[in-house]
Amino acid sequence: MKRFILGVTGASGVCYARRLFDVLKNHAELHVVISERGAELLKLELDLDSSYFSGDNVALYKNSKINSCIASGSFRTDGMVVVPASMGTIGRIASGISSTLVERAADVILKEKRKMIVVPRETPFSTIHLKNILALDQAGAVVLPASPGFYSGQKTFDDLVDFVVARILDQLDIEHDLMDPYQG
Ligand SMILES: Cc1cc2nc3c(=O)[nH]c(=O)nc-3n(C[C@H](O)[C@H](O)[C@H](O)COP(=O)(O)O)c2cc1C
Repeated sequence: MKRFILGVTGASGVCYARRLFDVLKNHAELHVVISERGAELLKLELDLDSSYFSGDNVALYKNSKINSCIASGSFRTDGMVVVPASMGTIGRIASGISSTLVERAADVILKEKRKMIVVPRETPFSTIHLKNILALDQAGAVVLPASPGFYSGQKTFDDLVDFVVARILDQLDIEHDLMDPYQG
């Protein structure tokens, strides 16, 4: 079974994290860490508590517990997704400021050259945001904006969420049926 880290931070769009979690927990062992602002957004946007992110193959960590296993490169994983990724978290990862577990886990993934997917949600971007996003790209991360397409018959809110989550699952090499590949 594959093993992934899921980081949820304080940007709008926690619906993407919930959907990714619901699909991925059936395919992989998940290690979830949610920032304090991420937890607030979960409550605000979905009326969910962090405890939603639990299950048989799931470990949930406090963001302050920097001494958790996912803070070490010796704990081998198949990658990490930060979704949604706030500009604050992106800036701190890009600067190597590993002061929380989300940031440290991301730092480890990058130094170990493992799969790192960052899903920013902000608009418009400032020059600072763009520089930090470029830094993550140059460090090997896949920057996958929460930017759904509208060309494959998407009709509902859930279709748009699935569009983005399908792109994340593709990057993780996880089979899914969230949407059909575009046939032209
Ligand atoms: C209602 C609300 C919505 C927010 N949405 C975003 C957002 O979409 N993108 C973003 O980068 N920051 C957003 N923020 C700001 C972050 O939550 C803030 O910068 C926070 O310090 C990020 O902390 P974290 O990265 O540790 O989760 C939002 C804040 C609030 C209160």
